[in-house]
Amino acid sequence: MTAPTSPARPTRILVTGGAGFIGSHYVRTLLGPEGPGDVAITVLDKLTYAGNPANLDEVRTHPRFAFVQGDICDPELVGKLMAEHDEVVHFAAESHVDRSIDGGAEFVRTNVVGTHTLIDAAHRAGIKTFVHISTDEVYGSIDEGSWPETHPLEPNSPYSSAKASSDLIALSYHRTHGLDVRVTRCSNNYGHHHFPEKVIPLFVTNLLDGKKVPLYGDGGNVRDWLHIDDHVQGIELVRTKGRPGEVYNIGGGTELSNKELTGLLLQACGADWETSVEYVEDRKGHDRRYSVDCTKIREELGYAPRKDFREGLAETVRWYRDNRAWWEPLKERAALN
Ligand SMILES: NC(=O)c1ccc[n+]([C@@H]2O[C@H](COP(=O)([O-])OP(=O)(O)OC[C@H]3O[C@@H](n4cnc5c(N)ncnc54)[C@H](O)[C@@H]3O)[C@@H](O)[C@H]2O)c1
Repeated sequence: MTAPTSPARPTRILVTGGAGFIGSHYVRTLLGPEGPGDVAITVLDKLTYAGNPANLDEVRTHPRFAFVQGDICDPELVGKLMAEHDEVVHFAAESHVDRSIDGGAEFVRTNVVGTHTLIDAAHRAGIKTFVHISTDEVYGSIDEGSWPETHPLEPNSPYSSAKASSDLIALSYHRTHGLDVRVTRCSNNYGHHHFPEKVIPLFVTNLLDGKKVPLYGDGGNVRDWLHIDDHVQGIELVRTKGRPGEVYNIGGGTELSNKELTGLLLQACGADWETSVEYVEDRKGHDRRYSVDCTKIREELGYAPRKDFREGLAETVRWYRDNRAWWEPLKERAALN
């Protein structure tokens, strides 16, 4: 007779910034019906203006979910949590470029010092895999073609410079200590639960309220749009099948100028250009175009974005139309318009 085998323990993942836009979608997805089923998640989140406990309502009572309110810059707390986890997926950051132009100190503190605090504690605790979520903005701006992962880092804003610094710190722990660090650099995300200071939710909620939308400069800045479902798919491929010490770009495959995006949003909300669009002074140092080359994640890990942009945008607009109670207080508190 063979001894009964004890059921495998789920992989314990520490998710930083899990009360924010993308992190909360990652947590809801992993603990939802389509999730892998073999993970237990602890969210560590400071609950800054961008962190919203309501984003985690869906999973709050899940038996494999825990929430800790705290700062990734707190070495004592971070050290204690690392000892209780197998893997880390690190989303926590100050994430809004315009705020970094008004003042970069908090961006350096959270994005640089916070990432160092986490990665150093991860190394000391023997964390198995550390996925660092970064951004395509670390590459700078590109007029033609797309960046492969080997492109030099040429960030322009205090936000992207702090993120680039955090990428380098994270990767240095792989090279120096052999820690299994994997970095993802994604394009602009869109979808539900997006804080209404960012262009898509700001424009949609303004239009739903019959207000004008502020279009920067000549509206010619180009971004690639990635639905949060596709981003989570990419992160999971990197976490489970990626290689240590590697960087993976994740894109959505839909490049649009801000003018084109505005046109689609007006259409989706039944508004017209003349009465609803107001050109405003351009953002300082505004990057003209971002474009990631996703050959590596496609060929190596089988990634392919699945969400059709128009469909994803229509679903997003519908969500904001149906969830005023989520965004109205946020806009009021942050005096956004
Ligand atoms: N949103 C995008 O389009 C996009 C694009 C590329 C990369 N990214 C990256 O993805 C990650 C997540 O972005 P997001 O849009 O979900 O951001 P977000 O601003 O919606 O959420 C950030 C979360 O981090 C938490 N946080 C901030 N400082 C903290 C600290 N010191 N300690 C603990 N928690 C803290 C906040 O409370 C919030 O819940 C970020 O690292 C960002 O740089 C985002």
